[in-house]
Amino acid sequence: MTSSSPVLDPQIAAQTVSDRVRLSLDIIPQVAVVLGSGIKALEDLECLGSISYAEIPGFPEATVAGHAGVLSWGRLGAEGPAIMVARGRFHLYEGHGLSEALSLVELFHALGIENLILTNAAGGLRADWTPGDLMLIADHINLQGFQAGLPTSPSDPMLAATRYRAVETYHDAWRMRLKQAAMEANVPLREGIYVGLLGPSYETMAENHYLLTAGVDAVGMSTVPEASRAASYGLRVIAISCITNISITPRGAAETSHQEVVDVAKAASQNMEALLRAAVLTAPQSAGFVG
Ligand code: HPA
Repeated sequence: MTSSSPVLDPQIAAQTVSDRVRLSLDIIPQVAVVLGSGIKALEDLECLGSISYAEIPGFPEATVAGHAGVLSWGRLGAEGPAIMVARGRFHLYEGHGLSEALSLVELFHALGIENLILTNAAGGLRADWTPGDLMLIADHINLQGFQAGLPTSPSDPMLAATRYRAVETYHDAWRMRLKQAAMEANVPLREGIYVGLLGPSYETMAENHYLLTAGVDAVGMSTVPEASRAASYGLRVIAISCITNISITPRGAAETSHQEVVDVAKAASQNMEALLRAAVLTAPQSAGFVG
């Protein structure tokens, strides 16, 4: 935690948000979506309301270009399911500690939200993939905790999260339903392994080739802490990467800049929008849901 960071009390943050949500919605949504760098989607909601991260007690400031720092909510159509949408997240590479990076997950958990859809921009390691492709994360490799030197002490409350052994971080049954729905809607969807690196610099070519031999399909700088923490709390999680550059080819790697990442993510927004809607509609139901 940086010395100037506010301290998040999830219950207080949740109270502030739920008071605001109830001005426009009669229920707390059961599905939350986190939109990563440049990903524009789910802007057209019914009963729309929002709060900026700066207004949520204990939340850090969102500092990365392409991240708005706004939490909104509403319904997917007049009769559709209620959802909460976080535009912008907190990265370890911004200098945030693990607890700040997990602020959104702590808030969703305190609100009682049970389903979490994470999105991110990522570099692709498959030479036959194309910028703008979408990839469902089947599983991840965590090289962030190691790089960030976490946890810091045996009494660190975050130890529980890092000790959690992820058997099924990304909900199998939900993933299957989403793949089926994407196929039926003609939305191309890849599936693969994501590696979370600390960043903020992009990988070297040697690192890319090394990661490829380790079975990695996509490289990014987020998602792993959020997905792990949420799953350790029992939230059902799925995650979708927007492949913004093919970093395994020298040209693709040379062209990677944050602006390019944001631009490609924006261009892929139509497919991402369709996929996110399908993900919300295929989300597990709480009461009596089996599977
Ligand atoms: N590497 C790591 N993170 C990224 C990349 C990349 O090539 N593209 C978008 N996020």
